[in-house]
This record gives sequence, structure tokens and C-alpha cells, in this order.
Amino acid sequence: MPILFDSEKRIFKLDTSTSSYVIQIFEQEYLAHLYYGAKIPDTNLSAFIFRSPFASFSPNNINIDDWRFSPDVCPLEYQGEGCGDFRISAVAIKNADGNNVTDMRYKSHKIYSGKPSIQGMPSLYLEDDSEASTLEILTEDSVTGIQAVLYYTVFEKLGAMTRSTKIVNPTDKTVDIEKVYSCSVDFVTHDYDLLTLYGKWGKERNLERRALAHGRQGVSSKRGSSSHFQNPFAALVDSDTTEDFGNAYGFNLIYSSNFAVDVEVDGYGGTRLLMGINPETFGWKLESGCSFSAPEAVMVYSANGIGDMSRTFHKLYAKHLVRGKWKNIKRPLLINNWEATGMDFDGDTIVSFAAKAKELGIEMLVMDDGWFGYRNDDRSSLGDWQVNEEKLGGTLANLIERINALGLKFGIWYEPEMISRDSNLYRAHPDWCLHVPNREKSIGRHQYVLDYSRQDVRDYIFNEMYKVLSVNKVDYLKWDFNRNLTEVGSAILPADRQKEVFHRYVLGTYEVMDRLTKAFPDMLIENCSGGGGRFDPAMLYYSPQIWTSDNTDPIERLMIQFGTSMCYPASTMGAHVSACRRTGYETKGNVALWGTFGYELNPNKYTEEDAELVRAQVAEYHKYYDVIHFGELYRLISPFDNAYRAAWMFVAEDKSEALVTSVVMREPYDKAFCLKLKGLDPEKYYRDEETGEIYSGALLMNAGLCLTWTDEHDGKSFKKYFKAI
Ligand code: GLA
Repeated sequence: MPILFDSEKRIFKLDTSTSSYVIQIFEQEYLAHLYYGAKIPDTNLSAFIFRSPFASFSPNNINIDDWRFSPDVCPLEYQGEGCGDFRISAVAIKNADGNNVTDMRYKSHKIYSGKPSIQGMPSLYLEDDSEASTLEILTEDSVTGIQAVLYYTVFEKLGAMTRSTKIVNPTDKTVDIEKVYSCSVDFVTHDYDLLTLYGKWGKERNLERRALAHGRQGVSSKRGSSSHFQNPFAALVDSDTTEDFGNAYGFNLIYSSNFAVDVEVDGYGGTRLLMGINPETFGWKLESGCSFSAPEAVMVYSANGIGDMSRTFHKLYAKHLVRGKWKNIKRPLLINNWEATGMDFDGDTIVSFAAKAKELGIEMLVMDDGWFGYRNDDRSSLGDWQVNEEKLGGTLANLIERINALGLKFGIWYEPEMISRDSNLYRAHPDWCLHVPNREKSIGRHQYVLDYSRQDVRDYIFNEMYKVLSVNKVDYLKWDFNRNLTEVGSAILPADRQKEVFHRYVLGTYEVMDRLTKAFPDMLIENCSGGGGRFDPAMLYYSPQIWTSDNTDPIERLMIQFGTSMCYPASTMGAHVSACRRTGYETKGNVALWGTFGYELNPNKYTEEDAELVRAQVAEYHKYYDVIHFGELYRLISPFDNAYRAAWMFVAEDKSEALVTSVVMREPYDKAFCLKLKGLDPEKYYRDEETGEIYSGALLMNAGLCLTWTDEHDGKSFKKYFKAI
């Protein structure tokens, strides 16, 4: 069993193939955190609870006769508020008597095979209970009776674990949860760098690395989405950790709303990292007999650098997060009309795209925004999900028939959480959007946000979607979300529950997505939020792919895709070739191959030469699909570190094939170029498909691939495909 309880030492040891995580039940039932890191065989770690001498400014527990113990100084597993630990607390509950002093101590535990799911929320899942084991620790505040159940699931083979927390109110009084983090981890040192992913619209998920400083630091969102600006991902790495060497601890929250990653380095040089719902915009009234579940945090440890950490996330998500029919089968290669037409199209335009796309080998046509209500620009009609037959020149069924007759599948765009001010729905139900009394509603892209905390609103939207989707053969749906949440209030919740709206909203979104996936299990869903504004693991639970960014410029995409790959696999990253200004189609194709691949342009504008290139790309998409979607990613040269080139490769799990791609961002200063490959079998020999040359894996990884005479001008790129012989 990967989870062991030593009843004598009262130590829990959670082992994966590569890591150990150790908790101790200390005196007075404090849960102490003793270790997280490379796998160790020992359970003799009790000494690690005492970190440092401390002064009277760090309180003692009157019942513990050990001068070395203070809750302020010792590493603790899940600490409350106001009882002697002055670091950031993991949980704070305003009790019935008005104070928020909270102190959770060990009560009991359970260890079992398998993994519980979280009611109403996405989380990692198992296909078989033997794939993971769970430790559930029940903690309780002995004064108030409120409980926190701490869940730890260990994915032994994948070097990963998850944590989540449930607050339970078995008392007869109502209390207010002020904050509840999903996980909190104490590290004894602070010699770490913090890695996070920052960005904005069109420039999502740039990698940022900074040394920890004393005090508080971190990233968060309070936009009602995980956001373009910060991603719910963070890693702590040793200051000398690189892509290929050293300790890396990755954290990712399965949540699409306001999150916080808070890190504090305390006065004794220890580090506490907490991840969960952002307490700034959260509150929850917990009535007698009720419980509240916080989202799940995923934790990956690697002793072999940031690259290995990423690959573990990729495997974990491909197997235990992405679900449904499209998890393992090849997704259709699509063309989307958005960048070519905006909303200025009719049925014939769409069919003409499909006809040309068919000639090129493209398999699906996606009709983007503008097919419903009276929407011809972004000022109207969100919420009016009735087909604009006049614009399409017939019914949707007719249009789909015409596209299917050409041999293409059909996909459609929705933005189900939004409502235009100029819409029939808004005129009928002005109170259906998020708003607060007497305050002007901020507008974003001329739209408001529907109050998804309301069941009637959700039912209405779902039913309207169902009416269209159940009678039309829709193979794919793009679920968009194009603004952030403001004036977050709900017309039907009482005043003392308004702080719940952000969380209730996202639960509502999950509910509708869940109903949609159940009602249409064969339909492929792609998530989108003005590109990658909601690129998070929770969305991947409902849609196996997410439109990574509205920015389709291949040079900009390098940064976006490198950053996104920190924890999200290639098979989840929506990437298309577009008509954007920089680089030729070859480089656009080489970069888009890193994701789900598709086109976002007017195929009728192609010259015969372009068309030939597209046919070749389509063939490559099929040829390399398995190595990209099911292989392992190795980042070779990062655009965050190198001003000239970026390079990456995919290697099949059995090391039998590899695809290497390199892109020139700026003409290199240094012409001698030996690209050292990674992840190959040093003992195997590989044939360069293009030249027929044969090299050992050892040579390719140590001497590198000599590319000195390759044409390296701005925007140029190349691929190299190797097959083991
Ligand atoms: C968002 C998406 C685009 C497109 C438009 C349509 O910006 O990211 O791909 O679908 O909405 O309005």
C-alpha cells in the first residue's frame, strides 16, 4: 500500500514511485508536516518537527511540555486562525459567537484504495480503484465542533498526489467559512524559486521565475475565471533546478474561478505554500448538518527537473482528467471561420469554406460566432440561441446536410454564460445577469454575465442549447467566455450569502457543462475564453481541448505554448494555422502541430502552392499524431531563455520515434548550432528520415544534431523525424 500508518510513531507516509510525503500526529493531536520530497524508506522523521529556537513572541501550547514546540514555528499540515500560528492560515471560520478563531486537530483517519470524487466539482478520476490510494484525515475544532476532512490521494505510479478539503458542520449552529484552502504545505527551507504563469489577452502563460523573499508572495485571480493574467499553477524549485536537473514541486488547482496561490517565507526561513479558492472574494454560510468542499489541488514532485515535472502532469491529465469519447481517439482536423470572416458570413460562405477544406483534407468545419439571434457584430443577441435562418439561408439542419454531403463534420460556437444588453433574453429577464442593487453594471464587449448561480437561468440556457443540439448533427461545440465578472451579486440570494456568488457561479457552469457532456457524449467540446482565459484543469474535465490563445502568430505562440506546457499536455492545446502576418505557412504549421491542429483562415484565398503545403501538413498531422498526442514532450530551447531559437521534441513512450522542431525567432548570432536532443534511448540507433543518416541516441543527446548549415533566417523552422532502427 502506498499509504502507510505507523501507529507507534503515529506517522503517515504517502509514497509514490518517486516521492514521499510524511505527516505526524504530534502531541495534543496537532498534525505536523515532516517531509515532502524524493522517496525515502524511513519513518523515523520525528526530529523534523522542531525547526528553530523561538522567543516568547511565538506562543506555546500550555499542554505541551516541550520548549521546542510552538505552532508558530513548527511545520503544520493544515492550520487554523488565531491559535498561535501567525503564518497564513489554511482555514478560518467565523463561529456562531462571532470570532474566527479556528484550530483543527487530528481526530481519526481512513486509508483505502480508490479515490472519492468531489460533489459538483471536477477532480481527477480513476478507471480502476487499484490506480490510487486515499488517506482521509478527520480533524476537528474541539471548541466549536466544526470539522475539516483532509483528503490525500496518491497516484503511486505517476509521482503525483492530490489534496482537497471538506468542511463539515455537525453542530446545531450556522457558521461562516471565511477561507478554506485546498492544500497547505510547509517546507523547512526557503531556498526556492517560485515559477508562475502570467499573461494577458493574446499573451497567455508566460513563464516567470523569481527567488522567494521573506514575507508573503503569490498569484491569484478575482476575475471570476482562472484568467489570462495568472494561471492556477505554481512550482517551487531549488534555486539551481533546471529543465533537466533538480527538485521541482508543481501545484495546479482544478478550479476555474477565483484562486490564490499564497507563499510565505517566515522569520525562521521556512516556506508555506497554500493553494485554493481566493479568500478575498469568498465566504460561505455553512448551516447545521451541511458540508462545503474545496476544489482539488494536484501536486507533482520531480527530482529530475522542470521538464520531468511537466511530463508527469501531462500523463496524469491525459489519463485521469480528460474524459469521454475523445480522450484516446483521434480528433477531427478542423477549420474555423472566425479569423477569416468574423460575423460577416452566410450559409454559402460557410459551405464554400467546407468545399475547399475538403479538397485540402480537412475533416470538420466549425461555424464560429454570429449564427444566432440577429447577431452581426458583438453588440447583440447573446442569450438568444435561436438559429438565424435568414443569415444561413435555411435551417441549421440544411446547412449541416450540405457540409456533411461534402464529407465534413460540423461544429458550432456558443457563449452560454453571457447575455447581451441588446437581446430578447435581457429584455425579458433583466434580473438574470449578475448585478447588485442600485449600482450600474459594468459592461464588457457589450455583454453582461448570466447569473449561473441560479437554477432557473441554467435550466433555460441548457434547454435552449438542447433544442438546437438535439435535432441537429453537431459534432463539436466551442464553449466561449468573453468577459470577466463584475458587480457579482445574485437577485435571489439573501444579503448574507452574496459572498457565495462567485463560487456558486462556477458550480453552476460545471453543472451545465456536465449536463451537456452527458446529453451529448459524442460531441467534442473545445473550451475558450477570448483564447486562453480559462485554460485550467477544471475546464479540461469537460472539454479535452482548449483554445490556447486568440494570438495565432507562430512566434508569439512559442511563448504561449512553452508556458502552457508547464502542466498541460499537447493534446489539450488548441492550435491553428492562420493568415497572421509573420512567417510562412511552413512555420505556422510546425508550431500548430504542437497542439490539436487546425486552420483558421479563408481557404479560398490559398494559391495552388499554399494548397500543396496544406495537403502536406494534413498528411503530417496524421503521421505525427500519435507521437505528439501520446508521446512525451521535451523542451530543448526555451524562448524565455533564448532570444534566437526555440526547440522542442516529442518522443514516443517506447522511444521508437521522435519528432524534433526548431523555430528561428531572430536570425541567430551564433551560426554553429548543435541541438542536443533529449529523452531518446542512448542504446538505440535512430534514422533521420530526411537524410537517411543513422545516429545513436547517445550521440544525439550528447554531441547533438549538427545543424550548422540549416537555413536559419527569421521565422524559418524545421522538423526532424527520427525512427529507431
Ligand atoms: C473569442 C474567441 C474567438 C472567437 C470570438 C467570437 O474571442 O477566442 O476565437 O470565437 O470570441 O466572438
